[in-house]
Amino acid sequence: MNPLNHVAIIMDGNGRWGLKYKNSRNAGHKEGLKAVERIIKVSIEQKIKFLTLYAFSTENWKRPKKEITYLFNLLQKFLTDRLEDINRQKIKIKILGYKRFSLKLNRLLNLAEKKTCKNTKLQINLALNYGSKTEIIHALKKISKSNCKINENNLEKFLQTKNIPDPDLLIRTGSTQRLSNFLLWQLAYSEIFFEKKLWPAFNEKDYKKIIKKFKNIKRNFGKI
Ligand code: IPE
Ligand code: IPE
Ligand code: MG
Repeated sequence: MNPLNHVAIIMDGNGRWGLKYKNSRNAGHKEGLKAVERIIKVSIEQKIKFLTLYAFSTENWKRPKKEITYLFNLLQKFLTDRLEDINRQKIKIKILGYKRFSLKLNRLLNLAEKKTCKNTKLQINLALNYGSKTEIIHALKKISKSNCKINENNLEKFLQTKNIPDPDLLIRTGSTQRLSNFLLWQLAYSEIFFEKKLWPAFNEKDYKKIIKKFKNIKRNFGKI
């Protein structure tokens, strides 16, 4: 059985779910938060150590301002309400992506990282304003200015995922089968599951089913 240390998730389908059931894309984002809570709970039960959640891509800035504002307000409210509890559960929060938000949200994100930095139960990497191509370009710029030789190991030290093992498993909900600029380097050998359900509908059972399948895959890493 494969050990499962790191799960990465592209939480896609909020907008479609919201439009279908509540006639509002934003309602889908709100409901999507409930799925986040469910998946965190199962991740802890399953003794997963790293959970990386794609919450906002560098390309998502192309959306209507109203939706972007709603999303960040939702995140702000979630962190304000839940940070104490997250810390109590020994969850560590790390932000992947550059913090280019409102002063208030930037501060809150820094606080969440600082407050939880010593926690060891589960590390949640929240990919926010994250884009893999930008991450790789920045890493290349930094490594070329350093004294490090350019090789795989050294380059990884300059990625935002420094000290985080590569995902074992990638799940994308919402039925589209693409990576949308997510962890292009780090997913080189991950097992990928595309799930038809929209993110707000994704539940404990769906997640556990994928984990079970993942555990039985023969992972070759080039060997036979
Ligand atoms: C994913 O759901 C969440 C974010 C990108 C913030 P979407 O908002 O992309 O939902 P769909 O794909 O439009 O249904
Ligand atoms: C990917 O979903 C980004 C997040 C889930 C945060 P998108 O809905 O933005 O992806 P595309 O644009 O359909 O590929
Ligand atoms: Mg989408």
